[in-house]
Amino acid sequence: SASVSYEAENATISQGVVESDHAGYTGTGFVNYDNVAGSSVEFQVTAAASGPHGLVFRFANGTAADRRMSIAVNGVTVNQSFPGTGAWTAWATVTVRAVLEAGVTTVRATAITADGGPNLDALTVDDGAQTTDWSR
Ligand code: GCU
Repeated sequence: SASVSYEAENATISQGVVESDHAGYTGTGFVNYDNVAGSSVEFQVTAAASGPHGLVFRFANGTAADRRMSIAVNGVTVNQSFPGTGAWTAWATVTVRAVLEAGVTTVRATAITADGGPNLDALTVDDGAQTTDWSR
């Protein structure tokens, strides 16, 4: 089924830098959030149809500390875990489920802890059909 990926290095970055020194990223690099609460990456994503979608964040966290972030979708926020992945070159995904309207939606991932966010590679928006359990 259809999905669209957005590279973090092409998004709007506040208190972070684009880097490429840890292999395994897609595109041309990733965002290294500043190690401060409030650092953020904001995406403008486009959904072809309204309905539930999976927002799949690809990241690496080479520390043992969870780098939780607040994920804002049209101003509605959820507190999402970005746990350690074992190494800065070990990339993983977490998925946030959200109902998107057709058209453009702002999705912002803001660091909650003083460690800042993880290294963020990309956000993929699926069409909702890839996940069957919407009851959680
Ligand atoms: C290291 C690592 C960076 C990472 C940073 C951090 O410096 O090389 O890629 O962003 O730690 O702790 O945030």
